Amino acid sequence: MIKKGIILAGGLGTRMSPLTKAVNKQLLPIYDKPLIYYPLSILMLAKIKDILIIVNKGQLNQFKKLIPSGKNLGIKISYAEQKSPRGLPDAFLVGEKFIGKDNVALILGDNFFYGQNLTKKLQECSKLSSGAKILLHSVSKPEAYGVAKLNNKKKIIKIIEKPKKFISDYAVTGLYFFDNQVVKIAKTLKPSKRGEIEIIDLLNKYKKRNKLYADFIGRGGAWLDTGSIEDFYKTTSFVAAIESRQGLKIACIEEIAYQYGWITKKHLIQSTKFYGNCDYSKYLKKLIFRD
Ligand code: DAU
Repeated sequence: MIKKGIILAGGLGTRMSPLTKAVNKQLLPIYDKPLIYYPLSILMLAKIKDILIIVNKGQLNQFKKLIPSGKNLGIKISYAEQKSPRGLPDAFLVGEKFIGKDNVALILGDNFFYGQNLTKKLQECSKLSSGAKILLHSVSKPEAYGVAKLNNKKKIIKIIEKPKKFISDYAVTGLYFFDNQVVKIAKTLKPSKRGEIEIIDLLNKYKKRNKLYADFIGRGGAWLDTGSIEDFYKTTSFVAAIESRQGLKIACIEEIAYQYGWITKKHLIQSTKFYGNCDYSKYLKKLIFRD
């Protein structure tokens, strides 16, 4: 059972400059809440309650203003700084102490997931006891992502970062589940041509050991990565359309904690005070008076 999770929320965000010159990308809005709420909600839905958020050097205070601790969510949040964006597997080196002897999930701070059965799938994935598990999703432009080629038994036979030649349209999403070996393996990685240690190299090491497993987000699910300004607008429109139609919020972290019984109405009231007079607080108040 995976009980610990890391959100990698650093990066330079240069593709989105000047928006990201003073503010970390993960704090920019996706419709009515900061981007980081979405990956955080995914770990929470997987019932992961011990969470490390890795941020850029010098940006810790920005994050702590928004998520001071996990207390009002009934979870534990810790922070660590990444000295420079050395690559995704650096999460396991920066987070070595946090991980300790446990298995761990990693989610990229700019990944958005939504869909029916997603919670069930997340809880299934977090049962991983050995090896590594990734979630694949079909995309129209696979060349922009890590891509996995499967055989007819849906076993991964090849996995490549941003392939120039088409190998498959299954993108590797930014949510990964690992056994404790990940720290040891991450330490053996060498920087690639672009000067980063690569998550695909790490996954290939698991594949070599016959320990890389795949699951799928089907057509009923959405996976969006918010790497560019255009992606931000697309994801914002998606969230706006669903929330305004349903009257329910996507990634309301307090609602998830309340539904799981991790917090009480008292905490919800505290959160409305924390956020002040806004639509988000009004939504929390609705939860308080609903039952
Ligand atoms: O979104 C899924 C894709 O994410 C995967 O399909 C690819 O295999 C994987 O390499 C990654 O590709 P990206 O090109 O999207 O990664 P990017 O460099 O944009 O980083 C993703 C997030 O992680 C972003 O929010 C910044 C953060 N980050 C990145 C690096 C390299 C860090 O916090 N520290 C880092 O060192």
